[in-house]
Amino acid sequence: MTLPNDNRSPMGIAEHDKHSLIQKMREKLSHRQSPSPRASSFPAATPAEDVCDFRQFADVKKIQIHKAVARQWNIDSLYFLCHDGVAKDTTSFDGRVCLNFSTYDYLGLNGSPELNAAAMHALDHYGSSSSGSRPTSGERPPHRELERALADLHGAKDCVVFVSGHATNVWTIYQLFKKRDLVLYDSLSHNSIIQGAQISGAVRMPFPHNDLDALEAILAAERQHYRRTLLVTEGLFSMDGDIPDLPRLIELKKKYRCFLMVDEAHALGVLGGTGRGIAEHFGVDPGGVDIWMGTLSKTLCGCGGYVAGCAELVECLKYLAPGFLYSVGMSPPLAAVSREAIAMMLREPRRVRALQEISAYFLEYARGKGLNTGRAQGHAIFPIMVGGSIEAALLASRLFQKGVYVIPIIFPVVEERAARLRFFLSSSHTREQVRRALDLVARELPLVHEEASAMIETQHHDASLDDLE
Ligand SMILES: Cc1ncc(COP(=O)(O)O)c(C=O)c1O
Repeated sequence: MTLPNDNRSPMGIAEHDKHSLIQKMREKLSHRQSPSPRASSFPAATPAEDVCDFRQFADVKKIQIHKAVARQWNIDSLYFLCHDGVAKDTTSFDGRVCLNFSTYDYLGLNGSPELNAAAMHALDHYGSSSSGSRPTSGERPPHRELERALADLHGAKDCVVFVSGHATNVWTIYQLFKKRDLVLYDSLSHNSIIQGAQISGAVRMPFPHNDLDALEAILAAERQHYRRTLLVTEGLFSMDGDIPDLPRLIELKKKYRCFLMVDEAHALGVLGGTGRGIAEHFGVDPGGVDIWMGTLSKTLCGCGGYVAGCAELVECLKYLAPGFLYSVGMSPPLAAVSREAIAMMLREPRRVRALQEISAYFLEYARGKGLNTGRAQGHAIFPIMVGGSIEAALLASRLFQKGVYVIPIIFPVVEERAARLRFFLSSSHTREQVRRALDLVARELPLVHEEASAMIETQHHDASLDDLE
């Protein structure tokens, strides 16, 4: 095993290996037919000046177009907002208080005295940073306590925490699956799952969202052509608020000899009687899932991600996954906060119940108002489908002006006709707050449709005048 070590070369190679590598490189270069670029007068032709100008990047231009559209639709003011303090069921911006439906803090724990005390204690004892990668610079008790608590939560043998939830998915899938393997993921999977599958080198295929008949058809046709197969889904889908049929997924993974990975980013704290997630929701043995992945940034009020499973899986990631091995250990105060959030979740199941009750109320009230809640099933995440991106943007802007902070999800993040407002609930929200927000949505939506039609008509009119010129 090669661990990064300051006594080694930047590539982590011992001195004698370095010499033989250099020798091999020399031999390789001497066999080249054409002279190396260094030998010739490089560059042959001077590249144009704009190749080293960031303003010429297509991505930079794309962002400018998106910003211009956002300004036109009045939603530019909704992004990168700076909160005055801790965002809870309400939050304030420049002293203006709003109802807040844009927080992942599902159990209302962020900023609580218990979590703050845990952070302060860890800060006093261990400082703010791990100051290096855990294998080489060492661990602190909060790392171990957090991993133990997470493993227990999922009924798993062991657990490893990474400093980013996104990186957890990317480097876990990358490390475990290779060229001769197949990764089958739900078509609405988070970007981090798709990125991990992409860089792993495995063949990857999305299956239609939550359509397990379609997944089985793919497995029946394809499974035999690959060595290992990974099925990936999410415990609770973050855009639509629906959940997969976990018992059937476990059956499929057994029948077709696959690994099953479930991303519990949004399910932890939300599903199950005590917030343990989708396995508890369905009352199935969590051992039926090989890779439990989750994030610390939502219910657990920290930052980072984790993988829980068997000891070999965790060891493999701890020793080899680049996003763990070559990255700093989690900040001890953050690890302590998430550890305390787990303890609070288990100690105070009333928070989970409150979230489940307010979620059921939201769904019932929204439907009663004639609003389209898409695929939402009453688990803290609620899209309100509004017909198109302009409508979603205009509606979010009007709501914000009237003191309701909710983010529009527009094309290209979702299909144009699937544009929506996305509401996140927390256990702190009250029925009165839900009614206030949804009454406003129901009142503003027809006005928004009129405004959007007028905008589109004006654009058509302007376009046809352009044609005449
Ligand atoms: C399903 C899912 N997985 C992974 C992530 C990445 O987690 P993080 O934001 O903690 O990096 C997210 C982010 O929201 C997510 O929704």
